[in-house]
Amino acid sequence: MPKFGAKLLALATLGQCVVAALNCTSSSTTVNWLGEKPTYNKGVTFGLPWPQGKYWPEHTKFSIVGDAGNPEELQSWATGRWADGSLKWTGHAIGQSDQIYDEYTVTAFSSGCTDKSTSASLGNSTSSLVVTDRRNVITVNTGKISVSFLKTGSIIVDAIKTKDGKTTGENGRLVLQSQNWVPDRSDSRGNASIEYFNFDSDIHNVTVNQTSARALVTVHGKHKVTGGADHEPWLQFVIRFYLYANSDSVKVMHSIVFDGGAESDFITGIGIRFDIPLKGEEQYNRHVRIAGVDGGIFNEAVQGITGLRRDPGQEVKTAQYEGRQLPDTNTWDTRVTTRLKWIPTWGDYSLTQLTADGFNFKKRTKPGQSWVKIPSGTRSEGLAYLGGATKGGLAVGLRDFWKRYPSGLDISNAASDSGEITLWLYSPAAEPLDLRPYHDGLNEDDYEDQLDALEITYEDWESGFNTPYGIARTSEVYLFAFDKTPTSEELASLAAHIQNPPVLVAGPEYMHETQAVGGYWGLPSTTTDTAKALEDHLGFILDFYRGQIEQRRWYGFLDYGDFMHTYDTDRHTWRYDIGGYAWDNSELSPDLFFWMYFLRTGNEGAYRFAEALTRHTGEVDVYHIGDWKGLGTRHGVQHWGDSAKQARISQPQYRKYFYYISGGDERIGELLEELLDTDKTYGILDPQRKVRTDGWTPSPNSTVAFSLGTDWSSLAAGWLMEWERRGSRWEEAKTKLINTLSGIANLTNGFVTGSGLYDPVTWTLGPPPADPDNLGNVSVSHLSAVFGLPEVVSEAITYLGDDLPIGFKDAWIDYCYYYHAPAAEQEARYGVKFGSLSLYQAHSRLAAYAAYQTQNTSLALRAWKDFYSSDGFTTSAPWNITHVNESSVLTAVDEAAWLATNDIAQYGLAVIQNLAYVSNALEDYAS
Ligand SMILES: *[C@@H]1O[C@H](CO)[C@@H](O)[C@H](O)[C@H]1NC(C)=O
Ligand SMILES: *[C@@H]1O[C@H](CO)[C@@H](O)[C@H](O)[C@H]1NC(C)=O
Ligand SMILES: *[C@@H]1O[C@H](CO)[C@@H](O)[C@H](O)[C@H]1NC(C)=O
Ligand SMILES: *[C@@H]1O[C@H](CO)[C@@H](O)[C@H](O)[C@H]1NC(C)=O
Ligand SMILES: *[C@@H]1O[C@H](CO)[C@@H](O)[C@H](O)[C@H]1NC(C)=O
Ligand SMILES: *[C@@H]1O[C@H](CO)[C@@H](O)[C@H](O)[C@H]1NC(C)=O
Repeated sequence: MPKFGAKLLALATLGQCVVAALNCTSSSTTVNWLGEKPTYNKGVTFGLPWPQGKYWPEHTKFSIVGDAGNPEELQSWATGRWADGSLKWTGHAIGQSDQIYDEYTVTAFSSGCTDKSTSASLGNSTSSLVVTDRRNVITVNTGKISVSFLKTGSIIVDAIKTKDGKTTGENGRLVLQSQNWVPDRSDSRGNASIEYFNFDSDIHNVTVNQTSARALVTVHGKHKVTGGADHEPWLQFVIRFYLYANSDSVKVMHSIVFDGGAESDFITGIGIRFDIPLKGEEQYNRHVRIAGVDGGIFNEAVQGITGLRRDPGQEVKTAQYEGRQLPDTNTWDTRVTTRLKWIPTWGDYSLTQLTADGFNFKKRTKPGQSWVKIPSGTRSEGLAYLGGATKGGLAVGLRDFWKRYPSGLDISNAASDSGEITLWLYSPAAEPLDLRPYHDGLNEDDYEDQLDALEITYEDWESGFNTPYGIARTSEVYLFAFDKTPTSEELASLAAHIQNPPVLVAGPEYMHETQAVGGYWGLPSTTTDTAKALEDHLGFILDFYRGQIEQRRWYGFLDYGDFMHTYDTDRHTWRYDIGGYAWDNSELSPDLFFWMYFLRTGNEGAYRFAEALTRHTGEVDVYHIGDWKGLGTRHGVQHWGDSAKQARISQPQYRKYFYYISGGDERIGELLEELLDTDKTYGILDPQRKVRTDGWTPSPNSTVAFSLGTDWSSLAAGWLMEWERRGSRWEEAKTKLINTLSGIANLTNGFVTGSGLYDPVTWTLGPPPADPDNLGNVSVSHLSAVFGLPEVVSEAITYLGDDLPIGFKDAWIDYCYYYHAPAAEQEARYGVKFGSLSLYQAHSRLAAYAAYQTQNTSLALRAWKDFYSSDGFTTSAPWNITHVNESSVLTAVDEAAWLATNDIAQYGLAVIQNLAYVSNALEDYAS
């Protein structure tokens, strides 16, 4: 994608678009920092939505100015387009700046606009960013630092240099440690013959995306065993380095896919390691800084000259404490200088955050000598610096360090010519990462047993399905280069900065106005007491779940971001150990609710919460390689444990909001691409296998009956996004989407049919096997519309506009209307009653949509009636929390024993969508 505004094509070749281009269209929108204005802007990427038909990618330029009117260099690209090709979403990047404004104004200009209006920072390549791509090495110079990346071997980052040419870090590489078994208990350690393995990165390929405000270097590879041990290369990785113009730091997104065996590959350490050149730096001028708690910094020198029996002088001591070069030794008290050789140097430091509640900290002079304990603390902010007063050095930090325990920071060999920093994303001081099943199968020998077990623990278990093969995890790491040791205040504020990296975002009003984020939500409505009460409930839900994450310690390397499914009111604990009730794994779309909460409020807490959720559910709960690539795992005690591997859990719609708002986060983009072949999994794995009675078995390329709800909505969301993104397979995706929309429209009973027969070769959808002649099947499930179907359908209807296959919208409106219509009406329309269903509160938003679309006021009233008095939360729901403490529980907690995650997710979506579509009827209903 070329940078915008690069060229105007010759008029003759352009046809219609050029006419639009000749007129000047321009508009501005402001973007603000999420939450407080940050201390630093080290470069940021953000996304903006645009209304349909207003701007075209080839004929639009963008500028950005701070609120003092100062232009900044802006890089812009298209991340999504409307069906007509006009811009739907753009990504933008600005480089590092010292001046940080409260808000920025982004202006879009069509190319018919005169130079006058476009003079602000357009077209000029004033960027300080220079990328050099050579045969073996790519170098990115931001203007402040220069980072070279190697294209082969085990070293990824050759060197990070400051402007003065000082090398602050080099030989940046990945480290992985594993063992092939774990002893069952500590006293059987001696019996087991365990093999230990060390690996480092092995690069497959490196690409660079060269642009003006930021450069992105992407490295693919696997971890390769060292020291001649016998182990295949594994744990595939993608590391993305983001370097912004003028920036002295690098953001690193580190993603791995578990491609080992749960029974044979126990990870004991995952890390990123840099060497720090210290040659020529006096031991007393070498500094170690490690972030502690709430802005705390550990300030020490490798060879301390404070606290000694003899005093070198206050100036000397202060300089060392403050990380400055010490005055010449001639100026010191000679009783110290003559005895420097007796003062030990401390080469190694190790901070290990093994729980969310505390870290241990220790140091030693060198290997072979005992460690000395350093007073420990609670939650480290996860940043370590090693360097010298004259040589400079490097700081490395991990976002959410303590929340992603077991994490760690090691500094080694600091007294030698080359020190070392290792950031542990998984600390080798922890127990090995044990991904084996948590139970032995309980002799559930066949489907009959498994279905019966489901009746009691709600776990859908099956031999061989509890496998982590193919799950992933992404971590966010930051590197900062210094040409001398920075102040501890600066390091403390950098540690805080990486916990909540600055985000620029447009306001809810603008996002809503463009309709690019769906038309199914509106701004908070507090005009009446009835509406205000509903808004308060949404606020309650967000606050409660944020609080539960902390109180229930839903933290950890793989777990952080998720929350639990159902509560055990007797034990006052979430059912963390009960089959199908533990981790939520996106059940009933909480992802959609929390993102919509953010969209309509701009609330920072909601954004950070939803971001962590998206980073978790999209990675850990979904398979990224193998036969089940594209499918997710149903809720359970282990994120990958349940045997229901389904498209509804990997639903791309759950990643959509973050993808676009973030300006097209490349890792999320990659996850979306992975989901494009989900339809192929139906040729391998039958989601209905345990309950099927017709003898059908899957085979690749054969037709498959799938649900028009949970299955189709996930596939359709992925196809729609690929089309929007104009990804490499967008034409295929568009065809699949339109074919299946027509297929549904063609079914005699539309969505009420329940399922359809999909042909993965011709990409068409016909009547289900139960009704080959399309006479009118009726199969309505309470689950069909609670995994994104209404949101996906609504967006598809808007997206296709006049090109929507005839009959599709009516089919959807009928489904919305009849789901909870009086039985007699169902029977009159479909020949049968739907019988007793559930999740009527959830489905009230379908009635609201249909009421709005057909201007049916009695249906609008029915939507509110379904909302208030069907199931879900009744008007008597308490909306309060109870404090439980003392010996009733392990630690004091707040509980809301009356709610479950299924309920809040769908309640939240119903409130938001009902208010968006039928708020007029709310007072009529309430009065
Ligand atoms: C470079 O990055 C931009 C923005 O993310 C993207 O639109 C473009 O496709 C990328 N180019 C390549 C060659 O990957
Ligand atoms: C451009 O502006 C002219 C004059 O206002 C108008 O007639 C024409 O329709 C506009 N073209 C487009 C494509 O909007
Ligand atoms: C862009 O470049 C032109 C010509 O070099 C210069 O006159 C103009 O001031 C520059 N604009 C900005 C915003 O730097
Ligand atoms: C880089 O290697 C990965 C596998 O490690 C592969 O999936 C990807 O397509 C490769 N990219 C390029 C640009 O060669
Ligand atoms: C499925 O069909 C595609 C395209 O028609 C073909 O390339 C592929 O080999 C087929 N796969 C199998 C297993 O038959
Ligand atoms: C819709 O039905 C008509 C006639 O029944 C048929 O010709 C057409 O191919 C069908 N379209 C799709 C997309 O199934």
